[in-house]
Amino acid sequence: MNPSDEIDHLRRRIRAADEQYYNDGASDLTDAQYDELFVRLRALEAEHPELVTADSPTQTVGAPLPKGGMFPSHEHLTQMGSLESLRSADEVRAFLARAQKLLALADDTPIAWHCEPKLDGVSANLLYEDGVLVRGLSRGDGQRGEDLTRNLRTIRNLPQRLAGDGPFPARIEIRGEVIMSKRGFAALQRREETSSEGTFRNARNTVAGTLKLLDPRVVKRRPLDFLAFAVGHVDGIAFATHGELRAQLARWGFEVATPSELCTDIDGVLAFHDDLERRRDELPYELDGIVAKVDNVEWQQRLGRTARTPRWALAYKFAPRLGRTRVLRIGAQVGRTGAVTPVAHLEPVELAGVTVSNASLHNWALLRERDVREGDVVEVQRAGDVIPEVVRVFTEERGPDSRPAEPPQSCPACDGPLHLDGKFLYCSNIDCTAQLVGRIVHLAGRRAFDIEGLGPKQVEQLVAAGLVRSVEDVFALGDEKERLVALERWGTRSVNNLLTQIEARKSPPLARFLHGLGIRHVGETIARDLAQHFGTLERLRAATNAELLAVDGVGDEVAASVAEFFASAKNRATLGALAEAGVAPQAAERIDGGPLAGRVFVFTGGLKQMTRDEAKAQVERLGAKTTSGVSKKVTDVVAGEDAGSKLAKAEKLGLRILDEDAFVALLEQA
Ligand code: IVH
Repeated sequence: MNPSDEIDHLRRRIRAADEQYYNDGASDLTDAQYDELFVRLRALEAEHPELVTADSPTQTVGAPLPKGGMFPSHEHLTQMGSLESLRSADEVRAFLARAQKLLALADDTPIAWHCEPKLDGVSANLLYEDGVLVRGLSRGDGQRGEDLTRNLRTIRNLPQRLAGDGPFPARIEIRGEVIMSKRGFAALQRREETSSEGTFRNARNTVAGTLKLLDPRVVKRRPLDFLAFAVGHVDGIAFATHGELRAQLARWGFEVATPSELCTDIDGVLAFHDDLERRRDELPYELDGIVAKVDNVEWQQRLGRTARTPRWALAYKFAPRLGRTRVLRIGAQVGRTGAVTPVAHLEPVELAGVTVSNASLHNWALLRERDVREGDVVEVQRAGDVIPEVVRVFTEERGPDSRPAEPPQSCPACDGPLHLDGKFLYCSNIDCTAQLVGRIVHLAGRRAFDIEGLGPKQVEQLVAAGLVRSVEDVFALGDEKERLVALERWGTRSVNNLLTQIEARKSPPLARFLHGLGIRHVGETIARDLAQHFGTLERLRAATNAELLAVDGVGDEVAASVAEFFASAKNRATLGALAEAGVAPQAAERIDGGPLAGRVFVFTGGLKQMTRDEAKAQVERLGAKTTSGVSKKVTDVVAGEDAGSKLAKAEKLGLRILDEDAFVALLEQA
């Protein structure tokens, strides 16, 4: 293809993908494929500057707004840009070196780069007039966005008015990302299992879909958050640094993305990226990289922007955990609950350093709904430690030899009968060994009892040999040493290792113990919440329904499932047998939950609607702590009338400051 045709072709592909991505929330290209096309286009245009046009995707942002869209559109006061997206340390070095050179600072004064997470959601631009939210727009094509005000107003942590006493700018545009936390997304998925809200592919996609809903009441039930990271047009005030801007955003009541770090050299920026990528599973929301911004705002202005992106900020992406591959075969597997679920065997694909060759399809109804067939090209996602999932099918690439898969007629493990419960197919045979194997593998897993050497293969072998007939039998294996040593592929040394491991893991922290039990709806996060709330197994077992519901993150479904688990005679017997075998969870440090758990409040100045003691009692009832002195440990400062030095200090530390109205609103929402 000659360069001009190739450029044309690339532009058309990219524009089509942009349109789908910005207007429907998803395109038929993965991020990595999109970036590849983009990089190619940029390279060709660099070689042939005469072929660059003003409407090339390299020169524009976002996508044209849909014609006849559901929401009216509105002009941004200043353009909403995009960021140059980099994928390697060398590209970052080149970017930073270019900025250093362009600024031509005396004696090579180093540039301080303010690094923060790159949030994976949907960007929004909020206009506040005299401190009051008047409009919220999507990014749209960068010049105009869709008016999503009614939906954005439902977001809990998005201030309807700026906190503090002002004075406020006559007009200010606050920019940030609408996201859904991992916890919120998981809760929504759980809810979806029992309702008809449709299926949610991933958090970003769900946010995009949610913001386009026409009924704000439905939006309000979706756990959205807004995190602020920039301003657009501002009347009257100027910020000297990005750090100062972040502190002011926090004082106005916005949540800003953490962690952030001021880095004074390239190695610092690279280390921030690597460290966050390593820890990405521990963070409360999905990230797709980091953003590094020149801290000094005057320097930002001197560096300016290209048509599409600023020269003072970059995005350094993490390795993608979404990829394309082909489904070779669709099989069935039996889980620890007896659920018989479809599993896609894939052409191996590497996702951020892990080779994936199997992916879950959840249930047969979903398989049919998504219409995944053998031979299909699919997108696979690996999020954290979760089992990889098929998230979509590229139906347009389907060949004539693709074959739909049918659910099995009997249990693929024991050939026993199956029954349907809701969307799930279960094996009805309570002695089905596949379930026992699944339960033990789960119990021994890294995030539960963490017993090394008890993977699926070993457990299957132990169960097949009749050495283990129940979960508790694992802890009595010490009495079976001779028979163990006689097993194929085992020797004295590996048996000794295993027995030492098992002995050493008899007192797991309560959270891991609970997770290992495999109580329905109690995953790792809820297990941790329950452990922290109740402290000991005895207290959890004795909890009433109301006490369970008081735990942050526990709803009716989880509470019922926990109660049912401890009421079952079989489970009681198992717990008794485990205790007898010497298995005893360690008590957890108790942190009482509540909607304000983890926050520390300081009150200063006089309140009009309640006394200070009443205010303290209220926040404590909601799980927060209170203290009298302002320090870095404090999260919120409630400033009433004539607030004095504490307020000044809080401002200096960049703490969240609430006036009485904002405080009352917070209590009402909590
Ligand atoms: S600053 C001039 N900071 O990434 C651009 N953007 O590709 C100012 N994003 O549209 C944006 N996290 O939606 C900035 N910490 C962060 C961000 C961030 C996510 C998004 C944002 C922007 C896109 C750019």
